[in-house]
Amino acid sequence: MPVLRSIRERFERERPLTGIRVAACLHVTAETANLVRTLTSGGCAAALCAANPLSTQDDVAAALAADGHVEVRARRGEDLDTYAAHVAALADERPHVTLDDGADLLSVLHARGGEALDGLRGGTEETTTGLLRLRRLEAEGRLACPVLAVNEARAERAFNDRHGTGQSALDGILRATNLLLAGQTLVVLGYGQTGRGIAQRARGAGAAVIVCEVDALAALEARMDGYEVMPATAAAERGDLFVTVTGSRSVLRREHFERMKDGAVLANAGHFDVEIDLDDLRALASSVREVRPLVDRYDLGDRALYLLARGRVVNLAAAEGHPAAVMDVSFALQALCVEELVLRGQALEPGVRAVPRAIDDEVARLRLDALGVSIDSVTEAQRRYLDSWT
Ligand code: ADE
Repeated sequence: MPVLRSIRERFERERPLTGIRVAACLHVTAETANLVRTLTSGGCAAALCAANPLSTQDDVAAALAADGHVEVRARRGEDLDTYAAHVAALADERPHVTLDDGADLLSVLHARGGEALDGLRGGTEETTTGLLRLRRLEAEGRLACPVLAVNEARAERAFNDRHGTGQSALDGILRATNLLLAGQTLVVLGYGQTGRGIAQRARGAGAAVIVCEVDALAALEARMDGYEVMPATAAAERGDLFVTVTGSRSVLRREHFERMKDGAVLANAGHFDVEIDLDDLRALASSVREVRPLVDRYDLGDRALYLLARGRVVNLAAAEGHPAAVMDVSFALQALCVEELVLRGQALEPGVRAVPRAIDDEVARLRLDALGVSIDSVTEAQRRYLDSWT
């Protein structure tokens, strides 16, 4: 992660986070460990808990805890009460700056309100789902601090969803099942950036791809990109493999399960485990049995359906999440946004805010440097032309 490394080296020299308490509720992976070490190199005290009960890499959590610089509260497969207790423990620390992937930590701090929010200079948010939640909080007039929307930074958009989830969701599905994608019909539910990445890569691997959408423009784009587009009830009869990535709930439910073919595989790549309706699936099944790690066979009498990773985000539960090359960009943005909140957060009004353009540009430039790619710059004559309305 060369970009993050260069930021870490600067942080070691300048110590811009001295005296700051940072709390991070992120997927506990090797890449996250690099981010946390970068932050502590900047002089802050840091605490880390998981953003999902099934995404923690225990060896990473243990190694980070052994460093002695970071309080780590995460264990793979922790139950929901333990998960919630870990988030609550981080909120108890009264952080100055938070990092979230799904907004659980900021939600707990806001649910507590009052003193719990004292001293909070701001937070960052890594994912679409988290920003949806925080914007709802803002719409109710209750968001108490500035939040930098890392998920919407240009550098993040260009990398994370398309190259990150696009590849890692399929990686998780393949590691869990060892399926051959070629010749399969893969149904993607949701054609946001992530759905696009999954659809594109699945097609490249020889699958026929069907897209289901509720947004007319996204559906039109999918059609123009060459995919079949249809309602989920129609796709249910056709698909061999279903991937939900909508951010909504019960996207696959009873009416879909009842139409699916024997052997159909169900995976979720959205943040929360609500996209595949597990209550409906359990209610239809006479028995459930784990046939491979993270593959549960639901016996529906005349058919069986296979659920991956208990409906949790498949790229992190069944694989290692996005590769380091992707997270280098995301977490470089995160590190610089934490610094921004420490230096200028108090001057910002509460609200969900765009990542400053200068941070976006710096991360893109550092990543290009790391790749050994140089680019042109605008000439003086071009600058005058671009600046002129005549
Ligand atoms: N989100 C997606 N991939 C990730 C990774 N490798 N580490 C942390 N968060 C992630």
